[in-house]
Amino acid sequence: PYTKTGEKTTKFGVPFDEVVNVARRIAAEPRLVLRGLAMHIGSQITDVAPYHRGTVKLIELVTAIRAAGINTLEALDVGGGLGVRYHNEKAPSPKAFADAVVPAVQAAGLGLLCEPGRYLVANAGVLLTRVLYRKHAGGKEFVIVDAGMNDFVRPSHYNAHHDILPLRDGKREQETVSVVGPICESGDFLALDRKLPSVAPGEVLAVLGTGAYGFVMSSTYNQRPRPPEVVVDGDRYYVARQRETLDDLVRGETAEPTTWYRA
Ligand SMILES: Cc1ncc(COP(=O)(O)O)c(C=O)c1O
Repeated sequence: PYTKTGEKTTKFGVPFDEVVNVARRIAAEPRLVLRGLAMHIGSQITDVAPYHRGTVKLIELVTAIRAAGINTLEALDVGGGLGVRYHNEKAPSPKAFADAVVPAVQAAGLGLLCEPGRYLVANAGVLLTRVLYRKHAGGKEFVIVDAGMNDFVRPSHYNAHHDILPLRDGKREQETVSVVGPICESGDFLALDRKLPSVAPGEVLAVLGTGAYGFVMSSTYNQRPRPPEVVVDGDRYYVARQRETLDDLVRGETAEPTTWYRA
């Protein structure tokens, strides 16, 4: 339910069998011109076949819209959602994606737009987090780190797998641990029952693939100021967003009423 957007029962878009009627209404409006059709079938799609099927369906609509006497279409937008490799997924190549959609769009004499958000940035981002404590409880090993679900919600929200690596090199034993944050929620985890090299308090871990749906989905839940964002270019870097402070969190709040309004 979290990443499928193209099904009839979701809140998105115009149902396939209503599109031509909507196109007619647009064409009847003097201020509107129907220049394109757009689809968005979902997110983190690692197979290009659904893009091919979706494009063919869009072309069916183009044919129907043109048959209705509307000849203003210029382009098709085949959406975003192209999957990336987080762990062992097979991410499609841009060429495979192009092969799946371009021929049909070209044959229809239309331009092509796409919105591959995650594909461009997901693997450009890394979340660095420090190990605070180790805990053994209930037969489990926990590595408690200073990043929580408020900083990076994908594991908790989507049950997403993100590889985690210690920054320090060197051979060490592997162990099965759960990497969890310091927040008061059992959903506050970055990895559950994960085989990792044994890590100690004070060490820094890198959570990979956090460039998409990372900082932008973060929150200040549990009154936690958010971390800085640092842009790295080869051997140089700059702080693109400062670490938040407690003052940032309370800015805009008013503890004592200065004016009571009447409802
Ligand atoms: C309309 C639209 N375009 C593009 C995207 C980007 O998707 P993704 O980041 O999975 O490529 C989304 C995300 O849901 C979207 O709703």
